[in-house]
Amino acid sequence: MNVHSFQQYKQESHHISMVTCYDHWSAQILGESDIDCLLVGDSLAVVMHGFDSTVHATIEMMEMHVAAVARGAPRKFIIADMPFLSCSKGLAPAMEAVQKLMQAGAHAVKIEGASHQLPLIKQIVEAGVPVMGHLGLTPQSIHNMGGHKVQGKKQSDAEKLANEATALETAGCFSLVLECIPTNLGRQISESLTIPTIGIGAGPFTNGQVLVLQDLLGANPTFTPKFLRRYANTYETILSGVNHFHRDVVSHCYPCAKESYK
Ligand code: KIV
Repeated sequence: MNVHSFQQYKQESHHISMVTCYDHWSAQILGESDIDCLLVGDSLAVVMHGFDSTVHATIEMMEMHVAAVARGAPRKFIIADMPFLSCSKGLAPAMEAVQKLMQAGAHAVKIEGASHQLPLIKQIVEAGVPVMGHLGLTPQSIHNMGGHKVQGKKQSDAEKLANEATALETAGCFSLVLECIPTNLGRQISESLTIPTIGIGAGPFTNGQVLVLQDLLGANPTFTPKFLRRYANTYETILSGVNHFHRDVVSHCYPCAKESYK
């Protein structure tokens, strides 16, 4: 897949699958999978570093994780999040952040929000870097939104989001993430754009779906948003695996003769 495949997939009604990936270990597995593209999301601040929000992601963190993923999955299309405020301190610092992510191995950057980002998005696209938009629940603005809430429920908010989606397409975004919005709005925006939408909690009518890898694999049993479907029980698998190892060690069952050098 490359940046042009996104448009082509939409024209062919081929839904795009995207998952987050933050490290070399999982990138090696995802590199062999059928998943279309990988997102080094700023959610890594929460999932990998234990912070309470993506506000804590820095460009240094993002750069290091992008490089690890790029080494693990060299044939996948990799999108990297522009972290908190990296787009709001002027053109030069923003372009430096883009340069760091692209030189670390990303093939595109993702930017949250629309209205205040449009001139910057145009500049980045003109500089030759593909940009993915992100509307709806934009976690970097969590303090402004008053928590993780479904966005665009009111008619006026829905209209604003639909207009912003069109503005992002006009600014040159090659695709758009829609997070936590009502199904009807996800459908309306997806049908009105020529670029593909990729949904998370945005219903079944977007042109693709994205989930956080650890969430879809069931690594965190306490995270239970309505949109999440679990495809594995990684929490149980890891817990029982390491407990089995522990039992074998304390009962002197590991290592056995076959696992030892003569
Ligand atoms: O950072 C992230 O994981 C994201 C996805 C939820 C779309 O932006």
